[in-house]
Amino acid sequence: MVSDGPQLLEIPRIQDVRGNLSFLEYPSTLPFEPARSYWIYDIPTAKIRHGHAYYTQQEVIVALSGSFTVHTEHMGKIRSFRLSSPWTGLYIPPMTWRVIDEFSSNALPLVLSSGLYSEADYIREYELYKEISDCGHE
Ligand code: TYD
Repeated sequence: MVSDGPQLLEIPRIQDVRGNLSFLEYPSTLPFEPARSYWIYDIPTAKIRHGHAYYTQQEVIVALSGSFTVHTEHMGKIRSFRLSSPWTGLYIPPMTWRVIDEFSSNALPLVLSSGLYSEADYIREYELYKEISDCGHE
């Protein structure tokens, strides 16, 4: 899956008159064992979440509420994904540059990550990302 680049995951959806329910579990629906989860909220709609990539961490992003756009670059391929449902996840492999923008007013992104928070795993400069990732696939 890692070599296929970012891709949408269909999350199970149990529909019920009491309220719908979705879940992710490893290994059936989540491609890695999650070590960490975080969520971003109270997001000003005009804001762009600055880009970064991870050397080793994988993640899945879900729009628990509202909508937003995730722009990705992986092995030179640029794609954009509009996330707007709690039963669709976006899998992002390591060494993927990603930027999130176009947040709706009630956007609530949930991020499941394969690793603990580690500043050393971040690539925060796009130029550095390009240098490192270009070496990897030329
Ligand atoms: P950061 O990953 O830089 O957010 P973004 O790149 O999306 O703007 O995180 C912002 C701050 O929050 C940074 O100081 C580190 C801290 N942080 C943690 O302590 N643990 C975490 O799991 C995350 C995601 C961030």
